[in-house]
Amino acid sequence: MSPADTISVPSPEFLYFRQASVREKLICWNRNSASWGGLLNLPDYLGRETLNGSQLMTRDGQIKYWVLSSLDKPPAEGEEEPDTIYAACETLQKPVIVKTKDGDCTEEISYGIASVYTNPKCRRKGVASVLLARLAKWLDTEGNCRVSALYSDVGKDFYAVHGGWMPYSSNQLTVSISPSETKYTAHTEVKTKPLQRADLKHLCKTDQDTLKSQFQSLALPPDTHARFTFLPTFAQACWHFGTEEYICEKVLGKSPMVKGALVDNNTWLYWTHDFAEKKLVVLRVVASGDKEGLVARLKGLLSAAEKEAREWEFGKIVAWSPIRELVEAAELLEKEERGIAVDVADRENDSIPSLRWHSAEVKGLTLWDPNEKYAWC
Ligand SMILES: CC(C)(COP(=O)(O)OP(=O)(O)OC[C@H]1O[C@@H](n2cnc3c(N)ncnc32)[C@H](O)[C@@H]1OP(=O)(O)O)[C@@H](O)C(=O)NCCC(=O)NCCS
Repeated sequence: MSPADTISVPSPEFLYFRQASVREKLICWNRNSASWGGLLNLPDYLGRETLNGSQLMTRDGQIKYWVLSSLDKPPAEGEEEPDTIYAACETLQKPVIVKTKDGDCTEEISYGIASVYTNPKCRRKGVASVLLARLAKWLDTEGNCRVSALYSDVGKDFYAVHGGWMPYSSNQLTVSISPSETKYTAHTEVKTKPLQRADLKHLCKTDQDTLKSQFQSLALPPDTHARFTFLPTFAQACWHFGTEEYICEKVLGKSPMVKGALVDNNTWLYWTHDFAEKKLVVLRVVASGDKEGLVARLKGLLSAAEKEAREWEFGKIVAWSPIRELVEAAELLEKEERGIAVDVADRENDSIPSLRWHSAEVKGLTLWDPNEKYAWC
């Protein structure tokens, strides 16, 4: 970047962290489209961001758009706007459940942090560091937030150092599907039912209820200070579905109707389609029933996912923080020698789950379970 393309940054006392006006929000989206536009052209990307902000999970102020600006309030309508936005981010309000070692178990409001972005003209000048410090202050005061989370695309250290979001396991199951094996034939004795959006409404409610009672009844592992998770709500699932449907409609002129698969009410999963990376992303795996026969039931669900992936000509299926039985089920598919390969590894650089307690106080080990992609934002 030539010196002409860079801008100087005021010292922190002249930088204000505040909510963006509608016009400022658009300026930010125009800028960050370069990073997150994916398959969409600019007008479509702006449309997607508008949609993302008006879903069941985000409407009525549940998503907040923040800027770090040299102006303490947005410029008046019609006023000339010089480059006054140095960085931006979003907070998405979401329900979580927290259990501490003293047995206290509460459902509360938390925030997912997303879209942390510095104007390319002033990168590596400490701007994001200031933004994150101000955001952390807001979470600890007005935000009244006991625990918040984000998913780092810039490694494990940056957010830990700047604000105290500590990195967590980013274990991921990847089931690669050979493109040559295009014809799908079911290789499972277990019968599965495809899930549509409407089916998930009551299933997600049951999932949350089961999880809540598990949190209440199960003791924490020794040496663990707390257990935490985002509740897997229907609203959150719909937020993912809204995005995939929008992108698919714009790029391919159709919509993915199958959202998951079910064996029985205790064994099912849902997914989202990543059209840019051509992968089926499992958002949540529910395996709350009997352990006996679980691997076979999960194999049935993975076969349904394979069928869906092949229909869209995707090269892989991924699932975060897979339980042991899910990996075993994937390995059974691999053994059938139909061009399936299984790998389990940490994501080292992208989407690293990171958790911050109020005031960045690390009180001890926190078990983040489940820690699946459904909660990503
Ligand atoms: C990541 C980002 C927000 C950092 O903003 P910034 O204002 O330049 O950050 P700061 O100046 O406060 O801190 C710089 C530090 O960030 C870290 N950093 C920046 N980009 C990084 C990257 N791509 N990978 C790993 N670390 C990175 C480095 O530790 C760097 O320190 P260094 O300059 O001594 O190496 C900015 O690069 C950006 O907007 N990137 C595109 C969008 C994005 O990826 N956002 C993060 C989503 S989780």
